[in-house]
Amino acid sequence: MDYIPHVIADIGSNTIRLGRAGECNPVINTPSQVGILQSSSDPLIGSEELNQYHEGLKMKQIVDQDSYISDYDIFAQILEKARNKDVSIGAFLTEPAQQRKENRAKLVEQIFEKLSFEQMFIAKAPVLSSFSVGCTTSLVFDSGENNTYAVPVHDGYISQSTIQKSKVAGNVISENVKKFLTNQAFEIDPISILEADNYDLKELNLAKKDIHESVYAFHIERMVKKIKHDLLECSIEPISKRDPSYEFESKTYSLPDGKSFTVKGEQFKIPEIFFISDSSSSEEQKEPKDADAEMQADDQYNQKLDGFNGFQGLVQKAINASEMDIRRDLYKNILCTGGTTLLKNFEERLIRDIEEVAPQNYTVNFIKKRNTSFGTGDMLYSSFIGASILSSLSSFKHMWFTKQEYAEHGPNHIEKKCP
Ligand SMILES: Nc1ncnc2c1ncn2[C@@H]1O[C@H](COP(=O)(O)OP(=O)(O)OP(=O)(O)O)[C@@H](O)[C@H]1O
Ligand SMILES: [Mg+2]
Repeated sequence: MDYIPHVIADIGSNTIRLGRAGECNPVINTPSQVGILQSSSDPLIGSEELNQYHEGLKMKQIVDQDSYISDYDIFAQILEKARNKDVSIGAFLTEPAQQRKENRAKLVEQIFEKLSFEQMFIAKAPVLSSFSVGCTTSLVFDSGENNTYAVPVHDGYISQSTIQKSKVAGNVISENVKKFLTNQAFEIDPISILEADNYDLKELNLAKKDIHESVYAFHIERMVKKIKHDLLECSIEPISKRDPSYEFESKTYSLPDGKSFTVKGEQFKIPEIFFISDSSSSEEQKEPKDADAEMQADDQYNQKLDGFNGFQGLVQKAINASEMDIRRDLYKNILCTGGTTLLKNFEERLIRDIEEVAPQNYTVNFIKKRNTSFGTGDMLYSSFIGASILSSLSSFKHMWFTKQEYAEHGPNHIEKKCP
């Protein structure tokens, strides 16, 4: 082994991915909510544990909506679990494109003071995603749970002034799935879901009061996400361009407890919000088309979002903020990552809409990751994979921020070591 053995943590507001250097998949892929039991100081982590019933369980979110760690003590405990005790002497952490200085300093203190690692490194997630596909220059489009970023990476670096961030991400369509279910008077019942998943529980005859409200909300959210992943689909052509008389087929969806509901086009209409621009939706509002009632019904899922010009607008703005001479390269090397880009037909629709706003003589091309050996997991793990590759290079040995440097210069020295 020619590299320093270390643990990698890729932190998101929906999921935290932890694993070891040189591996292409995380060993732990856990929701960013952990379970807290009164009877134990050890937090419960990972979907397998959290999808079970535990008496007296409460949930705690440990990463906030900007993907910043909000509970450093629990995060340290999780990192410790992933650490290969005998060998891991380093910690490699990812961070969002925009990060606060004080968050980095806090992380540094945890790593050296609390967890006694010998060295650490923090790198920007989009740079790592770009490395994961062997590119040093690309436009990284990352849509996760609470954040969507369009970030130009140039020669392995990010210029802060070019970053575009939006709060329109997976969570927005989850909310619209909930809205749809409420309109249908369909209620997700976490107790019957739990019982269906773990059938021996039926004997316990659970009641709502036996389950803490945070656990209740966790299971509702888990089911909403499952519905979203299984059912939603991007329409390759904008829905507004379809013939108003177009009839969507009905589709019935069943939850694990056997309860079911029917959609009729909503699976396409809900994700449409990602591609609707502030300007086009306001025009539509000024001049409502002679639309039928069904098209009018779209509006409830596609509210006008101030200043949001669709994901295509976000990409366009990020590229326009970059130096003129790299814009062509950026349009040619767009990398989609983050869970929300796993929606069916997402890339096909996004490329179509970017082509509409890109300069006419420019080629728009997405970097195809599905051809790599990592399979589809790479959309969720691209920054983890990039971290794993980068930190395993023998030349990386000299890049670490060491405990000795920390002792000499203090936590803010991280700014010099990991710019
Ligand atoms: N197959 C899928 N289809 C649609 N959405 C999906 C799919 N898989 C995951 N998602 C959604 O992706 C989001 C999570 O993505 P990801 O793990 O990249 O987020 P994160 O990095 O934890 O969050 P953030 O970057 O916003 O802090 C969730 O909203 C989830 O429902
Ligand atoms: Mg993320």
